[in-house]
Amino acid sequence: MLAHEPRWAAIVLTLFPEMFPGALAHSLAGKALGEGVWTLETVDIRGFARDKHRTVDDAPFGGGAGMVMRPDVVDAALRSHRAPEGGTGPLIYFTPRGRLLEQRRVEELAGERRVTMLCGRFEGVDQRVLDAHGAEEISVCDVVLSGGEPAALLLMDAVVRLLPGVVGREESLEDESFARGLLEYPHYTRPQTWDGRAVPDELLSGHHERIRAWRQRQAEETTRQRRPDLWARYVAAKVNEG
Ligand SMILES: C[S@@+](CC[C@H](N)C(=O)[O-])C[C@H]1O[C@@H](n2cnc3c(N)ncnc32)[C@H](O)[C@@H]1O
Repeated sequence: MLAHEPRWAAIVLTLFPEMFPGALAHSLAGKALGEGVWTLETVDIRGFARDKHRTVDDAPFGGGAGMVMRPDVVDAALRSHRAPEGGTGPLIYFTPRGRLLEQRRVEELAGERRVTMLCGRFEGVDQRVLDAHGAEEISVCDVVLSGGEPAALLLMDAVVRLLPGVVGREESLEDESFARGLLEYPHYTRPQTWDGRAVPDELLSGHHERIRAWRQRQAEETTRQRRPDLWARYVAAKVNEG
């Protein structure tokens, strides 16, 4: 019995429950899991198949390659953990067709008590069951993975480090990439010269304002060059502010 309610409960529906907690058993997320800051429950979708072969997929209507996860099986798995009328927190379905995951959405999800995640396999899940349960379709990158499980691990990792007390003060979240609409500045540590490469002078100046200004310039320049989409949003926000 926990001394307190967990701050965040994750429920993952998957055909591969043994993939969890995987990487999240280690480091910050693993420690927080052990301390009950968050909980992780997996639901084996195959356990809801109805035939003796425990079939979860079938051929796509309209033809084409690959198989599709059946709506009746996925629905039964979802109903085992969710009231059909909702009230059990967001349901996320991972798919390359989804809205691209952003830090802002991760912050919102960290504020929920409970998030359910559905991992697809094969060509994906029958659209009707996603619509019936009001699933939010999220993509974690513009790359096709072989299943939703790495996407679920990615999302949980990103959320858990935002839960209070998980990341120590020495790893402040305030300056991080995306926190202020910019990518972060580059980092350097000892030795001061390594492989003939020196640390930028500004960082050795001991002058807080010079260091802050240098980091800000670096963050802006890196964002402008690498992420024109973020840069355009940042510039627009500055114009509105001022
Ligand atoms: C091989 S993929 C299916 C790709 C799908 N036929 C398409 O072209 O959009 C199998 C499963 O992996 C997951 N997946 C693959 N790429 C993903 C991504 N970028 N973001 C989130 N989930 C992804 C989804 O759950 C998907 O149903």
